[in-house]
Amino acid sequence: MTEVPADLLDCLKTHRQEHVLSGWERFTASERASLVGQLRGINFAELATLYAKKDEPAASLPTRDRIAPLPVEGESADAAGIGEAALHRGEVAALVVAGGQGTRLGFDLPKGMFPVGPVSQSTLFRIHAEKVLALSRRSGKPVPFLVMTSPATHTDTVNYFEQERRFGLPADQVYFFQQGTMPAVDLVTGKVLLESPGRLFLSPNGHGGTLTALADSGLLAKLKANGIRHLFYFQVDNPLVKVCDPAFIGRHVQTDAEVSSKVVFKEKPEEKVGVLAQVDGRCSIIEYSDMPKAMSEERAADGSLAFRAGNPAIHLFSVPFLERVTTGRQRLSFHLAKKKVPHWDPTTGEAITPVKENALKFELFVFDALPLADRWLAVEAKREDEFAPLKNATGSDSLETLQSAMTAQARRWLRSAGAIVADDIAVEISPTFALDSAELKAKIRPGTVVSEPTYFCET
Ligand code: UD1
Repeated sequence: MTEVPADLLDCLKTHRQEHVLSGWERFTASERASLVGQLRGINFAELATLYAKKDEPAASLPTRDRIAPLPVEGESADAAGIGEAALHRGEVAALVVAGGQGTRLGFDLPKGMFPVGPVSQSTLFRIHAEKVLALSRRSGKPVPFLVMTSPATHTDTVNYFEQERRFGLPADQVYFFQQGTMPAVDLVTGKVLLESPGRLFLSPNGHGGTLTALADSGLLAKLKANGIRHLFYFQVDNPLVKVCDPAFIGRHVQTDAEVSSKVVFKEKPEEKVGVLAQVDGRCSIIEYSDMPKAMSEERAADGSLAFRAGNPAIHLFSVPFLERVTTGRQRLSFHLAKKKVPHWDPTTGEAITPVKENALKFELFVFDALPLADRWLAVEAKREDEFAPLKNATGSDSLETLQSAMTAQARRWLRSAGAIVADDIAVEISPTFALDSAELKAKIRPGTVVSEPTYFCET
């Protein structure tokens, strides 16, 4: 490639973004092609519209009178048979979002590759994949496993799955797809930032990018053609998630919900989880960073937190609903965040390390789809059974809290099967050995004494 394509040049001029071409004369043919490829992926008109909103109040939360607590159902084991039947008919797929970079954790590889098993050192990816495998065996139908990555995590993730032979899953059961990216723009000028000469600074477009990427990659149409009717969505950071929980699927089917969400009750007002609430009578999630302190501290008559329906980021979407929200009018809108973005300045030729927020980044949130649902359901999940996320290197939501939650759960299951386990012995159960307490009971002889750290797994 020698010249910048004329239509692209026009577009850059219209939007005053020609600076991205700085140094073009010195680029090799492949550098030019790669820059043009990056630029073709950007909707500059949309970017300009988003930038124009930068001074609007962040996440304009509706006034208090429009917000009400959301009714949450208790767990309903009765519906499990209905969910199992849907799994047996091959109507359910599992999707893990693994595009984030785990910055808070200080881990260079994709978060899914973090070893968390208290005895086995199994990684998050292994634990999730083994759940999908065990569930597929149990229901007699392969549950498609969709892994959403981003450019930052894609290659490492795919290589890791291959190296581990997909943890026993056949190749045609695992689908990788990448979420989209968005450029960052200079806060003052609205100009697109460059990482280095001829390379834009791009970052993942938020987990809401899952929905558009699903549709744009053709995967949604493929799932539908293969008879999938429900998509179970979860985050890579939570090893306790009950992947495709039959009771949850059952209630979703019974109530004909378009979206169902699990809820973990908040223990304290300052806990960093989003909160499910009704906004104008629709199911919504108010993100923890947007929640006014007074509201997070409000109490109901019985003394419990009024807004306690915490979001463990576990949802079940119906496929027709996903089709609706990924086409036309109902597409999600971007959230704007002011961030520090190191970049290369084409006017001075220098690398800049900002000391304060210098850029706007744009992200889609998957839960912005919730208010678009006409029929929705929220179901309680017990924290100790379903939610122990890995977010931080130390303190709350760290490896330590997660491993003690995993061990405590394994210990409860073992004890309920009649085993004798001391409190200070680390125990872990592979999902392929037992997916739940009932399955474990069938495999452990009552009176079994566990006297050393043990990983229960298939031999
Ligand atoms: C998130 C939720 C919060 C919820 C909590 C539960 C948001 C905005 N908030 O908070 O309501 O209570 O989890 O643990 O999500 N990811 C991508 N691509 C991206 C960005 C993120 O795949 O572009 C994935 C990450 O890999 C991760 C998940 O999304 O699996 C959550 O991202 P994270 O930044 O950890 O969200 P939290 O702030 O912890």
